[in-house]
Amino acid sequence: MSYQNLSVQEENGILILTISREKALNALNGQTILELRQFFAEDAPNRDGIRSIIITGAGPKAFVAGADIKEFVGLDAENGRQLSQRGQDVFRMIETFPKPVLAAVNGFALGGGCELAMACHLRVASENARFGQPEVNLGIIPGYGGTQRLIQYVGKGKAMELLLTGDMLDAREAHTLGLVNHVVPAGELLDKAKSILQKIATKGPVAVAGVISSVNAYFQYNEDGFDHEVRAFGKTTGTEDFKEGATAFIEKRQANFTGK
Ligand code: HXC
Repeated sequence: MSYQNLSVQEENGILILTISREKALNALNGQTILELRQFFAEDAPNRDGIRSIIITGAGPKAFVAGADIKEFVGLDAENGRQLSQRGQDVFRMIETFPKPVLAAVNGFALGGGCELAMACHLRVASENARFGQPEVNLGIIPGYGGTQRLIQYVGKGKAMELLLTGDMLDAREAHTLGLVNHVVPAGELLDKAKSILQKIATKGPVAVAGVISSVNAYFQYNEDGFDHEVRAFGKTTGTEDFKEGATAFIEKRQANFTGK
């Protein structure tokens, strides 16, 4: 399978999936979301001998800096809901993938990037990684499951603060809060990720899949929260404030929100 924005490498039973839009800090445009869907629905499940997957970002600066804000022009309430639902569906495929998926977070993991890392089963961060849900700065909310999964990792109080302020966490804070499993120097990131996955590869695949599905089952009561997020995201993409927020980002200035 060939991709525009993903590169896939196979190494000792581990597929290394690199999101490759370095100039846009690996922002998830529509094409990349489509390719992630293809990868998890059609490509990865059909490769023999694969035991696990690493997702990382191209370049030294970003894992993924979010959804592609430059594609937000023209979004309204209806297609905002569709955008959110499409991404949520792909991220759910990652979360329920029966083999371990590990995010090797090599820099900024913001908005949809933090949501992508949270949809993975494990997270290893380099010391320069930064995590956050800055959507409120654009007049929107997270739409790829961030309002639901952040609570699962850091608890309601801290999640509420991070979602309301848009503040970033550095790698150490993210580790202390339980958002990431390990923090390592940037040069050791992939080696650490591989060593964790190689250890898991010595276990029984049926047991590994059973752990993943059982841990996920604990959170299934929360389905309504994800639906609520889609609707609430669509409500924000129907506002004037959202247009102002996205335009301000592109024009590299502070947004002036009015509540309309
Ligand atoms: C499109 C992006 C981008 C994004 C960065 N770029 N983030 N393009 N979408 N999310 C582009 C910039 O426009 C710039 O391109 C280039 O990448 C380098 O970024 P800079 O801003 O110049 O770098 P720097 O000053 O180092 O700041 C890094 C940064 C900042 C802090 C990560 O780029 C930033 O705040 N990005 C936006 C983060 C964000 O708000 N993410 C949430 C998006 S909403 P040019 O061409 O100008 O050089 C979201 C919703 C998900 O994710 C749910 C949807 C349903």
